[in-house]
Amino acid sequence: MSVYKNPTWYKDAVFYELYIRAFKDGSGDGHGDLRGLLDRLDYLQELGVDCVWLLPMYPSPLFDDGYDVADYRNIHEDFGTLEDFKAIVDGVHERGMCIIVDIVLNHTSDQHPWFIESRQSKDSPKRDWYVWSETDQRYQDARIIFLDTEVSNWTYDELTGEYYWHRFYSQQPDLNYDNPEVQQEMLDIVDFWMEMGIDGFRVDAVPYLFERENTNCENLPETHDYVKRLRAHVEAKWPGRILLAEANQWPHDVREYFGDADEFHMAFHFPLMPRLFMSLKQRSRRSIVDIMNRTPDIPPMAQWCIFLRNHDELTLEMVTEEERQFMWEQYAPEPRMRLNLGIRRRLAPLLNNDRRRIELLNAMLFTLPGSPIIYYGDEIGMGDDIWRDDRNGVRTPMQWDTSKNAGFSSADELYEAMIDDRIFGFQGVNVAQQQADPESLWHKVVHMLTVRKQYRAFGRGSFEFELPENDGVLGYWRVYAHEDAPEIEPERFLVLVNLTDELQTVTLDLGAHQGKTPVDVLTSESWPEITAEPYTATLAPYEYVWLKLP
Ligand code: NOJ
Repeated sequence: MSVYKNPTWYKDAVFYELYIRAFKDGSGDGHGDLRGLLDRLDYLQELGVDCVWLLPMYPSPLFDDGYDVADYRNIHEDFGTLEDFKAIVDGVHERGMCIIVDIVLNHTSDQHPWFIESRQSKDSPKRDWYVWSETDQRYQDARIIFLDTEVSNWTYDELTGEYYWHRFYSQQPDLNYDNPEVQQEMLDIVDFWMEMGIDGFRVDAVPYLFERENTNCENLPETHDYVKRLRAHVEAKWPGRILLAEANQWPHDVREYFGDADEFHMAFHFPLMPRLFMSLKQRSRRSIVDIMNRTPDIPPMAQWCIFLRNHDELTLEMVTEEERQFMWEQYAPEPRMRLNLGIRRRLAPLLNNDRRRIELLNAMLFTLPGSPIIYYGDEIGMGDDIWRDDRNGVRTPMQWDTSKNAGFSSADELYEAMIDDRIFGFQGVNVAQQQADPESLWHKVVHMLTVRKQYRAFGRGSFEFELPENDGVLGYWRVYAHEDAPEIEPERFLVLVNLTDELQTVTLDLGAHQGKTPVDVLTSESWPEITAEPYTATLAPYEYVWLKLP
């Protein structure tokens, strides 16, 4: 059975990222699980989600919340069983949604039997599955990613007196992709989950698969060759399923991961994200315009994934040193808010819990080129806790209602305490209240998604800036011409956003559209007819409009 309405379904899809452990506890042990999630699939459908992305659900010591996999062919016992997982896949599909899961190619847990065997002796059959060295001086040009914790990408292992390579925590040894067995094993694992009916993978930590001396060990040609092999494999056996790349890199480097439509279907646009936040503090569209202008075209089948926040720190890897300092000063004034090269805060607290700004960034998320991803809880403006370890403060239990533990779990002890403060605690921020209040953020998000889905322009249309002189206002066109039906009028949108907290007036040259009356599709309000005269628009503080031109 194919659930794919069309082969490029992901271009119209709205994604929702969730952590099983944090979403809903069905068994009452304090950990979210698959049974709990099953119970909440209707919620996702109501919200307007098209594709659910699950963070790693594999058996794992959870040192890095599941990105340290100890068995690629099973489900973490806290989350349920393979049967429960199958029920999720079926449940998602029955509701017309899709599901992708994380696959961690680059590294395993140090508790994975492969690594346990590998470290036993230098001639263990699994020795060469990992990257071992007599010295810790190789690949010195590779940066350290978890800067706050790790001092080297090598860790000494006493058992055999050699060092092993790891780009993340030392508990996450890198697999050796020069070994053909490793390459093949991962393709077999891909088949295992595709067999279960998933619609694709979010592929973790793509740039780091291979290591070569005198390089920074990122984006190497060998890595692209393997990705091409992976794509060809998926294309041949699982057409319609997708591969989404996590490559936190500059646009021209990420562009390479779309290949000639023979690598990834989708990739996150990392550099855009911090610039959306930056534009508000700078009261200027400059950084957004700059990064979009530096974003190369991608193959027609390919699609960007755009996002505001995710389960990690708000990464500032893809900004200049000066921009990073600016972001830290503006958005992380407390040292504790910073983590590695980023900021460990959620959307609502970052935006001062200001509804206007939260809506504004969502309005851009849903109209800029690419498929949007919502991070669980951000649709109701959940808060964070910067005092928790690592990134745990943005991975707290979902706040469903005002009952015990916000309706997340009946247990007395949770995997992670609820957010409990005056502003963001579950008494004030929860799904039930917001569903009952037509003016809530939740309803606003649902409305924007409902409108977005009526058109193809936002997922598939061309993109062009409309830049009035006043750079506190950002404008862009999204235009979609129905390729298969030229008799149908193209969809033509002009999105305008006021990035400032003041009223802004702009003058636009819309002469080419003389005689047309723009309509804001979010409010159904008609704007003045376009004439030969310059077109003047006044926007309230942080106002956004999605103008449709007939
Ligand atoms: C990227 C993931 O998003 C992050 O959570 C994880 O720690 C690293 N990859 C390592 O797998």
